[in-house]
Amino acid sequence: MKMRLDKYLAHFGLGTRKEVKSFIRKGLVKVNDIIIKKDDYKVDLDCDFICFNDQKIEYRQYVYIMLNKPAGCVCATQDQVHRTVIDLIEGYDHYDLFPVGRLDKDTEGLLIITNNGDFAHKLMAPKRKHAKLYYAVIDGIVTEDDIRKFKEGIYIGDYQCQPAQLTVLAIEENYSEVYIEIYEGKFHQIKRMVQATGKKVVYLKRLQIKTLKLDPHLESGRYRELTDDELFDLMKDL
Ligand code: URA
Repeated sequence: MKMRLDKYLAHFGLGTRKEVKSFIRKGLVKVNDIIIKKDDYKVDLDCDFICFNDQKIEYRQYVYIMLNKPAGCVCATQDQVHRTVIDLIEGYDHYDLFPVGRLDKDTEGLLIITNNGDFAHKLMAPKRKHAKLYYAVIDGIVTEDDIRKFKEGIYIGDYQCQPAQLTVLAIEENYSEVYIEIYEGKFHQIKRMVQATGKKVVYLKRLQIKTLKLDPHLESGRYRELTDDELFDLMKDL
């Protein structure tokens, strides 16, 4: 595949089209060890060896990022009022990133950010039934009856949920810590499932999607690209 040199460098995230044109004119870009000063030079992505400031750069069509979403920002690409999850990601301006699925503004934890629409669709499509694991703090005491209702598939007013798994981690005087695993992703699903048992979610954090676990070293608001192994496992049987 062939592409204009300035487009290639901009797509790689080196700067705007205008900025990369100036890098090219300054002689900072080499193709196969030869300085190229023409921004419309066509590079062959399959075989050309491209360097910026003597550092090799490789074209990537898609990127896959794990974000530990903080509370307070919204899962959208743009918003007039709130900070979006995309606003948190720096250095990927030319990739047209978007969040895979949605977490509520006050929900924290694992969010995948990518520019691969097909991957996002397959990962989130309800009929594919990929598991999503959440940690929740619930105002109220979770009972055996609640666990059974989740297992059977709880009715949330306008929707019959698929069977889900509710696991109690701790019961305190008036609240419960639980894991909840669901295989679909309706709007406010966990909060509405818990509400259907007469209780309220007061804290919610997503820990896992399919095989991908939230990196425990990733602080709230921080992100990193998925490793090859993580991506391989996620893509398997998608
Ligand atoms: N379920 C919810 O209620 N909220 C989320 O953010 C995710 C799942």
